[in-house]
Amino acid sequence: MKRNAALMASAVALALILVLLLVATPADGAGAGSRSHRSPRHAAAAAGAGATSTRPLKKHRVSKSSFHTSQGRERDSTREYAGQGTSHLRHVPAPGEKVTAVPLEQGVHAWQPAVRAELEHIVSSELGEQYLSLLPSVSDVESGVPEQIKISVTARGGELVLNWLTWTNSSTNAQIGTASGQYGAVLSGQTTPFVDPNSLHLVRYLHNVLITNVQPKTQYFYRVGDATSGVWSDEQSTRTVPDGSNPADLVPVAMYGDLGLVNSQSMAVLSDDVAKGGVSVVIQVGDFSYNMDELQGMNGDFFLRDLQNVTAKVPFMGCAGNHEQAFNFSHLANKFSNWNYVSDPLGRPDQNWWYSFDLASGGVLTHYISLDTELYYWDYLRGESTAPGQEELKGNYPAMIAAQWHWLVDDLTRAYDSGKYAWIVAYGHRPLYCSNVDSLTDCMSDTELLRKGPGGMYGFEAAFSVRPLDIYFAAHEHSYERTYPVSNGGTVDWKSVATNNLYVSPAAPVHIVAGSAGCREYFDTFDEVFYGAFSAFRSETYGYGRMTVHNATHLHWEQLIDEGNAPSDHLWVQKKPRQHLVAEQPEQKPKKPAQPRIALE
Ligand SMILES: [Fe+2]
Repeated sequence: MKRNAALMASAVALALILVLLLVATPADGAGAGSRSHRSPRHAAAAAGAGATSTRPLKKHRVSKSSFHTSQGRERDSTREYAGQGTSHLRHVPAPGEKVTAVPLEQGVHAWQPAVRAELEHIVSSELGEQYLSLLPSVSDVESGVPEQIKISVTARGGELVLNWLTWTNSSTNAQIGTASGQYGAVLSGQTTPFVDPNSLHLVRYLHNVLITNVQPKTQYFYRVGDATSGVWSDEQSTRTVPDGSNPADLVPVAMYGDLGLVNSQSMAVLSDDVAKGGVSVVIQVGDFSYNMDELQGMNGDFFLRDLQNVTAKVPFMGCAGNHEQAFNFSHLANKFSNWNYVSDPLGRPDQNWWYSFDLASGGVLTHYISLDTELYYWDYLRGESTAPGQEELKGNYPAMIAAQWHWLVDDLTRAYDSGKYAWIVAYGHRPLYCSNVDSLTDCMSDTELLRKGPGGMYGFEAAFSVRPLDIYFAAHEHSYERTYPVSNGGTVDWKSVATNNLYVSPAAPVHIVAGSAGCREYFDTFDEVFYGAFSAFRSETYGYGRMTVHNATHLHWEQLIDEGNAPSDHLWVQKKPRQHLVAEQPEQKPKKPAQPRIALE
């Protein structure tokens, strides 16, 4: 017994040492070899702040599993920032209904001295005093200087939407021209106030201007602001996407998810890629900023100011992830209200939770379908109790799941049957297939829920089987994984797998999970025992991917790993004819595993 007691005491001591070591590990470091590619502002801020610059956020970290399994824990975290009395604001709109904001008369303006002092306190205490430099100046806030400028495309060719934010109720104007400093007439758009549901109720004004009749492949210079007050942004420029008339025009589209303010590993390299013309369009597949609502919404403001190097230069599209869920996704819905214009120039159906658009590349059109996967992950769908304050979710999300599913089937059918599109791709935040083991529900019951739908209804695989879909992009897992063509819960179309990097005329979608752009939650892990037979490539490294449609028969995907510098994984998807690409590929056809190590269903 004494020996056992001594052993137990040793074990306890060892456990305590391990716990102390874990606690002492710097929060902003993914272990040996981790690197930071923050913006210069962040680098300077972090250098001065040291470990304290990121540690305060760590205590507010909400694990992904807590979003899945415990609405109560999630709400506790949000409440730390939101204060009291916000539950009544969690209205969930019916399909087509506008996201409800706090009444404007309850809003406060960020230039008021007491509000400014509170914001400075929040930033310095939560991020570190060095981050105070990320707050806009009082004069910029008060005079309505535009910030967080973004561009998006619409479902029609020859259109752009310019979107930006001000802290005053200013007019919405833009000027655009093909020479620097030489603009056309002053264009007008819509100003929409967004009163933050967080406790301070900061008022932000979102502006959208729809630009029509833009020419393809043209360098435009523009500025946004208020023509009445004469307050304009700095000049921005963008090169519009081609119209498909020239097969030599290729449009690389960056795809990634889970890029945050802290540990934003891919941001600087992505900005360089955009600046050099290596990327023509960027799609973030959910989970922005970590989290847009935090720090009275300033977390999202900081992130989008830094990302303006990308969002103001090329069309920036995306969808909601679980990290946007606070206050009924209202920070995302309002700050990206330009996506409302994708399907209809008047903003109808007045929602940006799902939509579709087209891009030309290689002389052919590709149809992009943006989906909201978060509707599927609420406790009541799993038969669990609804957390206090979220009761109003009942009865609304099922309707939205059904509405989106029917829209998806209709959109996919129309796109395919039209014969206009050489390729059809879809993206949504959560994957249908993955192999990570950090949270066993993520790649087991959660993927099954999305594939099959709650109660076996409105599953994505049923919708994708209505017409052929080429690729489904997802994120959520903080890693990179590519599958073989797979459907029906794990059935691989082995006949199409010519090599590990070449699929020929796949009879099922390829699934790509690219969620390692960099965020404060670092990596999600793999373990060999959990690989599904569908899994072709996995990597726990930071980076983002690029998809390029070369023509009607060849589509290329590459994942740029090590923060985007080096292609690590790539794939050709080829439709007939197939001969010449097969000859170019030296890889051998991979051996089919005898049995999956673990059955997903
Ligand atoms: Fe996520």
